[in-house]
Amino acid sequence: MKILLTGGSGLFGRAFIDLIKGTLHELYATYNQNLLNIENAISLDITDVKQVKKIIIEKITPDIIVHAAAFTNVDKCEVEKNKAYEINAKATENIAKTANKIHAKMIYISTDYVFDGEKGMYSEEDETDPINYYGSTKLEGEKAVIENCNDYIIARTSVIYGANKKNFATWVINELKDGRKINIITDQWVSPTLNIDLAEQILALIEKDEYGIFHTAGGERISRYDFVIKLAEIFGFNKELVNPTTSDKMKWIARRPRDSSLNVSKISNIKKPYKVSYALEKLKEMIK
Ligand SMILES: NC(=O)c1ccc[n+]([C@@H]2O[C@H](COP(=O)([O-])OP(=O)(O)OC[C@H]3O[C@@H](n4cnc5c(N)ncnc54)[C@H](OP(=O)(O)O)[C@@H]3O)[C@@H](O)[C@H]2O)c1
Repeated sequence: MKILLTGGSGLFGRAFIDLIKGTLHELYATYNQNLLNIENAISLDITDVKQVKKIIIEKITPDIIVHAAAFTNVDKCEVEKNKAYEINAKATENIAKTANKIHAKMIYISTDYVFDGEKGMYSEEDETDPINYYGSTKLEGEKAVIENCNDYIIARTSVIYGANKKNFATWVINELKDGRKINIITDQWVSPTLNIDLAEQILALIEKDEYGIFHTAGGERISRYDFVIKLAEIFGFNKELVNPTTSDKMKWIARRPRDSSLNVSKISNIKKPYKVSYALEKLKEMIK
């Protein structure tokens, strides 16, 4: 398969590139502001309509487009609404329409933040109702994919972490390693997803030629606090440094869903997501 990946320089993208290296698939990956130092790297601003069309239709003509590029800073999306809409919704619509023109399959990486977080353990059939602008723009992106593509997968994930780019887990590791105290909330539940686990789930969906909506996330619902305690135990850090707190004390701009954990039963029949402890052991191996 000839695969075009957007967001190759992102947390998920880097893991996907590493995974595809060990396969027979031909991969092209785009970056925007953070240079991607690999063969077949393409500089692309996905809001540039003409350039997107040129790359997809004339330059690459892929069989599959994995669209992972997004404006992912949840608080910034609340302030820079125009930018969030252009990148997450409009650009996705353009990519979806262009993918369909060349009969490519479109795989859109979406988010647990399309849900309001009142229920938790959301399945693919559950009703969406985002409570912040980031979630709304990603849901617009989903709708654009469904409306414009004959062959698509929407892959919703949750709190991505990994070894190869700064993220929540690497921040925790750096703070605890240096003996600094951190405040972690006990009242938010998610399905943390190791980037290599997500990459494996997406590749499995590609290779099985699946179709539709999938929740592609870590194998367990867990609170932020319990996740950090588990991380501290596995990495051998002092758990006393982790101070429990609640979300009302956070100085966030955007509202966050209380429980946006995802039910991963559907993807489990295709590729079993990692359990938290297993994923954290893997992370430890990669960070050593
Ligand atoms: N991170 C999470 O916890 C999380 C949770 C749920 C869902 N998701 C979804 O998962 C996907 C991957 O997330 P991630 O964490 O890997 O993202 P990330 O690390 O924040 O990286 C974002 C990627 O998007 C690219 N990008 C941003 N604006 C662009 C533009 N205008 N043109 C072209 N590329 C642009 C960035 O390129 P440069 O860096 O080169 O500028 C980067 O490659 C996203 O669609 C996100 O919505 C993420």
